Amino acid sequence: MSEGSKVINWYPGHMNKARIMMEQNMRLVDLCIELVDARAPGSSRNPDIDRMAKGKGRVIVLNKADLADPKVTDEWKRYFTDRGMVVVLADSKSKKGTGSVIAAAKKACAEKIARNAARGIKNQSLKAMVVGIPNVGKSTFINAVFGKNAAKTGNKPGVTKGKQWISVGKDLELLDTPGILWPKFEDRAVGERLAYLGSINDEILVTEELAGTLLLQLYKDYPALVFDRYGITEELDRDVSEASFSTRQSRMLDHIANKRGCLKKGGETDYFKVSGIVLDDFRSGRIGRISLERP
Ligand code: G4P
Repeated sequence: MSEGSKVINWYPGHMNKARIMMEQNMRLVDLCIELVDARAPGSSRNPDIDRMAKGKGRVIVLNKADLADPKVTDEWKRYFTDRGMVVVLADSKSKKGTGSVIAAAKKACAEKIARNAARGIKNQSLKAMVVGIPNVGKSTFINAVFGKNAAKTGNKPGVTKGKQWISVGKDLELLDTPGILWPKFEDRAVGERLAYLGSINDEILVTEELAGTLLLQLYKDYPALVFDRYGITEELDRDVSEASFSTRQSRMLDHIANKRGCLKKGGETDYFKVSGIVLDDFRSGRIGRISLERP
């Protein structure tokens, strides 16, 4: 394992088709509900959305907030609010925070609602679409907000045949297929964060290297959590602090592998197995509530 030996580069082949579809759908809506991963809100969004959603109401959902560091999430909330977006913190899996989306949508479209009211149009429902990169929680979010109360409103004039809208009450209608944004990263650190989150296919990545670099970052930013989860002793800590980058990665993985019994015949560390455990622990929040970047 060596520092900087691998550049993550991944683009889905259907990215252009997705972009065209998104631009068509965007014309049909009043507002764009953009989902990002609260653990890395900067890296898990595609900034092209700012151009595509120009002139639309903007709601940004910091999803998976249950897994992120609450202090850092507050910093992101301020960051996006300062940029004119209405921010919602959500844990779509347990439906926390998702109930505030209708109020957020109204706030984001306040000007349009006021304009309509001045022309005598009242109680018109807002049309929205959900967008986000893969795995950010779009389907889970749509289910949480629109789930059992949702009614399919069918095809409407001016809407491409086959497009379905779902609605909650009279206030909000949503295009039932979310817009898939492609991850965008020119810089290695962004690609790495997306890989840690599981937004990039693991198969094309070197799992051992990914788990090693993640561990070092967590060790630097959240030492107490790493100690608690993996029982890293002060002695190892001292050892690790002094070692070179790749030695530190392997030593940490060796230590965890020993504790978890991830050993091959002959007692060698099974790096692939232990790396999978570390990534899985992080992604499911078992290490703790962790954010990978600050605004
Ligand atoms: P997508 O449509 O954007 O591709 O994402 P999707 O809803 O499929 O969600 C991707 C994974 O993220 C799912 O986990 C889902 O349960 C999880 N998830 C979505 N929102 C949240 C959230 O707010 N908090 C947490 N903790 N998890 C969330 P999975 O492992 O693929 O499926 P499952 O085992 O949970 O069913």
